Amino acid sequence: MTQKINTIQDILTELKNSLENKEASLEAKIIVETVLNLESSELISNSQNQLSRNQIQKILEIRDKRNSQKIPLAYLLEESYFAGLKFFVNDDVLIPRPETEFLVNQILEEIKERKIHQPTILDLCTGSGCIAITLKKALPAAKIYASDISQAALNVASINAKRHQAEISFILGDYLDPFLNISTSPIAIPIIRSKPPYFDIVVSNPPYLTKEEYENLEPELYHEPKHALVGFPYEHIKKQILENNLLKENGFMAFEFGFNQKTKLEKIFPEARFYKDLENNDRFLIN
Ligand SMILES: C[S@@+](CC[C@H](N)C(=O)[O-])C[C@H]1O[C@@H](n2cnc3c(N)ncnc32)[C@H](O)[C@@H]1O
Repeated sequence: MTQKINTIQDILTELKNSLENKEASLEAKIIVETVLNLESSELISNSQNQLSRNQIQKILEIRDKRNSQKIPLAYLLEESYFAGLKFFVNDDVLIPRPETEFLVNQILEEIKERKIHQPTILDLCTGSGCIAITLKKALPAAKIYASDISQAALNVASINAKRHQAEISFILGDYLDPFLNISTSPIAIPIIRSKPPYFDIVVSNPPYLTKEEYENLEPELYHEPKHALVGFPYEHIKKQILENNLLKENGFMAFEFGFNQKTKLEKIFPEARFYKDLENNDRFLIN
């Protein structure tokens, strides 16, 4: 099979015919573009370009891993797009989801509506840093903190912040602990030496699945870290934010949640506004 592959067109055809998933055609293009470091438009104009043996081997290796182990393509290529920006990802972080872009847009709208200038924002459970970094790009004057319980995730987020020249303070810790007096975090951060309220906005796309939902996921999702998917205690977090006066007077919380969790969350956040994602699933709240 490999002897017949000489050009970009040949490898695209080979991948389209042999990738074992519904999106074979799209994935073929993404793999070839990424390995050859080409823009989408260049694939067509260079379709008759010859490939080196190494390039062909690398592309076919990715195809084989994708087929045999069902590893998400973003992990194999170590990159993913969010809000038009390219993010480094590995299996220490959740692959950024397109619906989360809507959460970022909604926050920007809300900031305008509330006339908040130079906001201080906490991105709780930052993962790859996609929310914190896109907010910083949109609001250069904002002060942004981004926290996660996983140092490995924060390492990925720091790489992305450098890549996009976004100045963000990264904090290691269990949910809000680093911002509370009861903090057990061994890391001293300047913010806890001042008095609350600290934040105009606390945003999170947290690990929102329940244990039962986790048991019934598509196989590919089990490649993502379990602690990135399961367990966020919305009620407890809301209570901690309010009781510890973490939000400024005109401030707000913005949370993503699972598409079937609205009923439960309406009870916890009776004053919140709820939003749907582009697929018409209930997905976000602003409170
Ligand atoms: C669903 S992922 C979201 C990542 C990112 N916000 C995004 O939208 O792509 C949730 C993140 O929460 C982090 N996390 C899980 N438990 C945590 C905890 N107790 N405290 C802080 N972060 C936690 C995980 O490490 C993971 O990076």
